[in-house]
Amino acid sequence: MSNLRQNGRLRWAPSYLRNQGQLTKGQKRAFREHWSTYGLVFQHGECLPLARSFPDFAERELVVEIGFGMGDHLLEMASLHPDTCFVGIEMHRPGLAAACGKLADAGLQNVRLIRGDARLVLSDYFGSAKAAAFLIQFPDPWPKIGDEHRRLVQPGLIDVFEKRLHTDGHWALATDVTTYAEHASAIMRKKTKHWSPLARSSWSARRSTTPYEAKGLAAKRHIIDLAWTFHGVTEPC
Ligand SMILES: C[S@@+](CC[C@H](N)C(=O)[O-])C[C@H]1O[C@@H](n2cnc3c(N)ncnc32)[C@H](O)[C@@H]1O
Repeated sequence: MSNLRQNGRLRWAPSYLRNQGQLTKGQKRAFREHWSTYGLVFQHGECLPLARSFPDFAERELVVEIGFGMGDHLLEMASLHPDTCFVGIEMHRPGLAAACGKLADAGLQNVRLIRGDARLVLSDYFGSAKAAAFLIQFPDPWPKIGDEHRRLVQPGLIDVFEKRLHTDGHWALATDVTTYAEHASAIMRKKTKHWSPLARSSWSARRSTTPYEAKGLAAKRHIIDLAWTFHGVTEPC
C-alpha cells in the first residue's frame, strides 16, 4: 500500500496534473548524468539523508521550494545564497531533469531535488529537519468551482509547515490568480495564533520571471506576492 493512502483512501487530493509530458533528449541526458549528484530518493520508513547531502547541515539554514517547475527560481535563490541549503520538491519529471541540467551547468552544490508529493515528503520523510522557509511560486491554480480542494495550499499543508519550520521562519506564495491569493489569505486568517503576515519574504526575491509568471504577465495578470512569519515554537530537534 502506498503511503499516499491511509485506510485505503488518498490522504490528499492530487494537486498536480497527471500528464507530465515527455522528456526531451537533453532532459534524459541531464537525468542520467546528474540525478545521482542532485537527486534525493525517499524510502519507506527512512528519513531523507539531508545531513549526509549537505556539509555542516546542522549549522546552515534550509529553504524548501515546493513545485519548482523548471527550477529557475530555485537556482536563482541558491546562487544568491550559497551558504544556505536548498531542497526542491517537484512531481514533474521534465522539470526535475531540466533543473538537474541547470544545476550542473551552474556548478551549484547547495541544492538537492526530490521527486514526489511535497505533502508526503514533508510529513513522513523529513525526520527532525526544520526549515527557515517554504516557498511556493505559482502553484497550479485549479480555478474551476468545485476544484478548490485540489489546490496545494490547504489548512493541512500549513499544519505541516508548523511542524517543519523554525520559529520566525517564513512561508511565501506567489500567484497570478486573485482567487488563489484570496483562498490562501482566508486559510491564514484562521491561523493567526501562530502566524502573522509579512510584506515580502527575503527568501522569494525573484530577479527573473519563472515560466508560469511569464504566462501570467503575458496575459496581463497581476502578480501577487504573499508571505507569513511563523511565531510558534517547534519541538527541538
Ligand atoms: C503551475 S506550475 C509552476 C512551476 C514553477 N514554480 C513556475 O513558476 O514556473 C506548478 C508546479 O507545482 C508542481 N506541484 C503541484 N503539486 C505538487 C505537490 N503536491 N508536490 C510537489 N510539486 C507539486 C507541479 O508539478 C508543477 O510543476
